[in-house]
Amino acid sequence: MAARLPDSWLDELRSRLNIVDVVADYVALKPKGRRYWGLCPFHNEKTPSFSVDSEAQMYYCFGCHKGGNVIHFVMEAEHMEFLEAVQMLAERAHLEMPERVNAPQEAGQRELREKIYEANVAAAHYFHDLIWTEEGSGVLSYLHKRGLDDAAIRRFGLGAAGHGHDGLVRHLCGQGYDMETLIKAGLCGQKDGRRYDMFRNRAIFPIINAQGRVLGFGGRAMGDAQPKYLNTSDTPVFNKRQGLYALNFVKKERGLKRLILVEGYMDVVSLRQMGVSGVVATLGTALTEEQARLIKRYAPEVWVSYDGDAAGQKAILRALDIFEEQSMPARVLDIPGGMDPDEYIRAHGLEGFQALKPIQPVEYRMKRAADGLDMTTQEGRTRYAIACCELLRSVPNPVELENYLSRLSVETGFEKEVLLSQVGRAQPAAQRPRAPRPRLIEKDEPLADFERAERALLSMMAAQLIPSDLLRVDDFENPLNREIAALLMGGFTPAAALDKLKDDERAQAARILQDAPPVEPGKALAMAEDCMNRMRRHQLEMRIEQAKQQLSQAQGEERKATIALIQRLMQELELAKTGRKE
Ligand code: CTP
Ligand code: MN
Repeated sequence: MAARLPDSWLDELRSRLNIVDVVADYVALKPKGRRYWGLCPFHNEKTPSFSVDSEAQMYYCFGCHKGGNVIHFVMEAEHMEFLEAVQMLAERAHLEMPERVNAPQEAGQRELREKIYEANVAAAHYFHDLIWTEEGSGVLSYLHKRGLDDAAIRRFGLGAAGHGHDGLVRHLCGQGYDMETLIKAGLCGQKDGRRYDMFRNRAIFPIINAQGRVLGFGGRAMGDAQPKYLNTSDTPVFNKRQGLYALNFVKKERGLKRLILVEGYMDVVSLRQMGVSGVVATLGTALTEEQARLIKRYAPEVWVSYDGDAAGQKAILRALDIFEEQSMPARVLDIPGGMDPDEYIRAHGLEGFQALKPIQPVEYRMKRAADGLDMTTQEGRTRYAIACCELLRSVPNPVELENYLSRLSVETGFEKEVLLSQVGRAQPAAQRPRAPRPRLIEKDEPLADFERAERALLSMMAAQLIPSDLLRVDDFENPLNREIAALLMGGFTPAAALDKLKDDERAQAARILQDAPPVEPGKALAMAEDCMNRMRRHQLEMRIEQAKQQLSQAQGEERKATIALIQRLMQELELAKTGRKE
C-alpha cells in the first residue's frame, strides 16, 4: 500500500522513471506497437506474454496475470515491500525520500549502515581468503570432512576465522576501517585498550540478503568448542529474527513451487550442493512471524524440514502454527531415522532426498500426538484417539477425513463411526485460521458486452484519448471498473491509480488500463459514444428486468404505472439500439 508517502511525491518519482528502462534490467524487451514484449520474469514461459506499456507506464503478463506499475514490478521482481521498492527506485531516480526519511538523524544512521555493509564485505573476503591458506587449513579440512567440496565453499563464500585473537581487526584497521564501525558491525570488540576479533577458530558462513548485502556471519566452532555456533549479534544492519540464510540464492531461482526451510547453515549448504533448490534456514532462533512473511514472498508453499531430534520436532509444531497464522501453506518433510536433512542427503543422495514426500500439518500433528503416550495400553490409545479427533476437525475434505479415520481406527481399535462422532463432538480448539484461500487468478472469462464497453472507455481515458469528464462514476456497473473510473476522474494518473487498489485488483486494473483499442485520436469520441450506448442499453435492460419483476406483484394503480414504465423503457432501449439519441 502506498501508506504514508505523499501521492505527489510518488507521482514525481514515477515521472522520473520509465518503466521500460526499469523492466529492461530484468527482461529483454522488444517493441511492438505501443507496447514492449518479453519473457515473463515471474513464471516460466517460452513465448513472450509479458507486456510493458510505455504510455500507461504499466506491465501486465497475459500468462500469469501479474500486473502493476513500476513500483509493483520492483516489489515482485526483488521480493520487496512497497517501501523498500520505493527506496530502491528513488535512489535510481536520484530523488530524495520525503522528509521523514531525510531527517539528519536518519541520514547518519544510513551512513553508518553503509559503512557496516562495507566492513562486512571486507571481512567476508578476509575469511574466505584465509580458508585457502595454512592458517585456514583446519577449517577447510573440517568442511571437506563434512562433505562440502571447494565449489560449494566458493559459491557460499564460506571462510575461516583464524587462531589468533586479532587477525581480522588488524587487517581491517590496516585497510582504513575505524574501530567504531567494526565494533558496531559486531566484528570486533575492545577491552582495556585491547582489540580482539569476535570470531576465532571457526568456519564462517556469511549471511547475505536478497539484495546481495552481507548482513553478518554465523561461525561454527571446530570440534566440540562452545558455543557450537556463534552468530553476529544484532547490529544496525542485522537482526537474526528477521533474516534468512541463503535468500541471496532464492532470489535468483525463478518460479519456485516451494521453499524448504531447514534449521542449520550446514543443512542449507549441503542440500544445495547436492542439487536441491529453494533451501533456506533461520538464523539460530525459532521461526518468527517476520521470517514466515519473508518466506511467503518467494514461493506459494513451504516445506519444513527440521532436525530429527526432539528439539527439532517440537520446533516443527511451532513453525506450523506460525505459518498457519500467516496463511502460508506449509507441509512437513519429515526426515526418517532422527537424522538432520544434511545427514540424510549424504546417506541417501539426491534421489533419496527427493523421494521423501511432504506430509500435511494435520498428519504431522497426529504423529506427534502419540508422544509420551503408551500406545500399548487402552488409556494411551484412548487419549491418542481423542487428541487426533480434535486435530481432524480442521480437515474440510470428507475424503481426506475418511482416510485419516481409517488409519486412526487401525491404530486405536475404535470403530470409524465412533471416531467420526468424536470429531463432531470435539470442542473447537483454539480456533485455527482456515486454510489460505488460493491466489486470485484472473481467468479469461467471457465478458458481458457492457463490461467490454466499460473497459474500453477506461483504457481510452487512461490513454487520454477521451476526456475523463465524459462520464460519471455511476455510469459504470462493474464494481472494479467503477473504482478505477473514480480514481481516473479524481485526477490520478493510471499508474498512480494502481497504488490505490487492493493487491488482487491491481493486476486486472493494469490489464484494463493498458488495453486501449487502436483508434485514431479523431475517432476516439465516436468510439466512446458507441461504448456509452452499449452501457446505456445494458442499464435499460436491467431496469426493464427489475420492473417486470415488480409487475408480478403489483396491483391496481401501481400495476398500471409499472406497465407504463416498462413501455417507456422499452422504447428507450429501441432507440438506443438503432443508435439514435433521444
Ligand atoms: N545454532 C546457534 N547456536 C547454537 C547452536 C545452533 O545459533 N549454539 C543455530 C545455528 O544457526 C545452526 C542451527 O541453529 O545452524 C542448527 O543447530 P544444530 O542443529 O545444533 O546445528 P547443526 O546444523 O546440526 O550443526 P552441525 O551439523 O554443524 O553440528
Ligand atoms: Mn542440525
